[in-house]
Amino acid sequence: MLGIIGGSGAGRLAALEGERLQAIRTPFGEPSAALTFGRLQGRDVVFLARHGDGHTIPPHAINYRANIWALAHVGVGAIVAIAAVGGIRRDLAPGTIAVPSQIIDYTYDRQATFFDGRAGEVRHIDFTEPYTGWLRAALLRAGRDAAESIIDGGVYAAMQGPRLETAAEIDRLERDGADMVGMTGMPEAALAREAALSYATLAVVANWAAGRAPGRCEITPADIDTVLEGAMARVARVVLRVEVHGGNQSRT
Ligand code: HPA
Repeated sequence: MLGIIGGSGAGRLAALEGERLQAIRTPFGEPSAALTFGRLQGRDVVFLARHGDGHTIPPHAINYRANIWALAHVGVGAIVAIAAVGGIRRDLAPGTIAVPSQIIDYTYDRQATFFDGRAGEVRHIDFTEPYTGWLRAALLRAGRDAAESIIDGGVYAAMQGPRLETAAEIDRLERDGADMVGMTGMPEAALAREAALSYATLAVVANWAAGRAPGRCEITPADIDTVLEGAMARVARVVLRVEVHGGNQSRT
């Protein structure tokens, strides 16, 4: 079953038929919201609002472990994560949709592993390729089917937030090789890998990263909301067309 984690601007999926809510308790506490089960183009999917109903949970306070555990528990094998980002690379202008291929993690003080030693198990997952290859390809194919141009690849920098970055921080991220910047990509992707779930991200560029807009103008929440509102119908058209095959656990 396909799981969809919706981020800023994607608090629900309008296209979901026959919605049913289910609250899940996990050993790691409460997920961000109840899971919404429904059908999308005749397929069973589960939707979870990452920031909670009404967008009340900031990125650093999200219970990523509970979210991933809950989705795995109800039988999700593959997760499409929708995430708003700031664009650093010149072709990642506001409104652009991308499927990132790599991650640099700058977050701290987050519960970032299921293997924290308490269960007596230490494990180091391979994370060379943080996103699942077949699911990235499925997202790109869905984009083509929806006649949406989607950028293939890019390095996602996960920042702690909730504040946006300084211009100098964005310069540093660029020197590090980052193409886009967000706040929720980690530890979500790593936890999905630990739980042996396939995982890929549809990144929606909400704004130019700090200092990148012409005239270095301020980034306002209203501008971000306007861009996300415009882009989400396009994101939904792509998600509708994602083909999830049987081999959910494979990474390549
Ligand atoms: N920085 C970090 N996270 C973001 C941004 C940004 O500019 N835009 C949307 N999420």
